[in-house]
Amino acid sequence: MSATPLGGVQLPMLEVAGLTRRFGGLVAVDDVSLRVAEGEIVGLLGPNGSGKTTVLNLISGALRPDAGVIRLGGTPIHGLPSFRIARLGVARTFQLVRVLASMTCRENVLAGIAFGAHAQWGAGARRAADTLLGRVGLGERPAALPRPLRRGLAAGMGELDAELDLGHPGPRPFDDGF
Ligand SMILES: Nc1ncnc2c1ncn2[C@@H]1O[C@H](COP(=O)(O)OP(=O)(O)OP(=O)(O)O)[C@@H](O)[C@H]1O
Ligand SMILES: [Mg+2]
Repeated sequence: MSATPLGGVQLPMLEVAGLTRRFGGLVAVDDVSLRVAEGEIVGLLGPNGSGKTTVLNLISGALRPDAGVIRLGGTPIHGLPSFRIARLGVARTFQLVRVLASMTCRENVLAGIAFGAHAQWGAGARRAADTLLGRVGLGERPAALPRPLRRGLAAGMGELDAELDLGHPGPRPFDDGF
């Protein structure tokens, strides 16, 4: 989504301030603040267990913060359910890519298209799915089940996670990109 100029000041696309999340007595995320401008790439670095994934879970709405604010284009999104945050343009990818094994490659992509920021259904969604499958080298086998293609599909689906929100320049939190 686009950052909105306010009184001549460009807002960051994503702004996190004072973010805190506890699991029982463990403070997994302790007063984290960050800003991401449109088009900027920001990495979270830290040792195992330092709270990186928890920050992404908080931004994408999988978890709710105990304290702090998360704003997207100036609008608070903390506390919203993850499907609403996704529709606002936050397309999250995961450390481990999992496919729906009983569904075809095309159906796997259709599931993402149906629930993304620009939800589509029917023939238009199928065309969009086939275009995306072609982009990651899976265009020849849209009706194949993912299992025999597991590696290729996993790699392709990982790329598609971020593509399912085509034309929507919002944040793309992804976990363990390296
Ligand atoms: N759902 C949960 N319930 C309880 N504790 C959790 C939960 N999720 C994470 N934690 C704990 O919070 C801390 C931060 O975990 P997190 O997974 O965010 O770290 P990370 O920086 O992503 O680690 P890694 O580099 O291993 O991926 C860890 O101590 C972890 O055990
Ligand atoms: Mg992690």
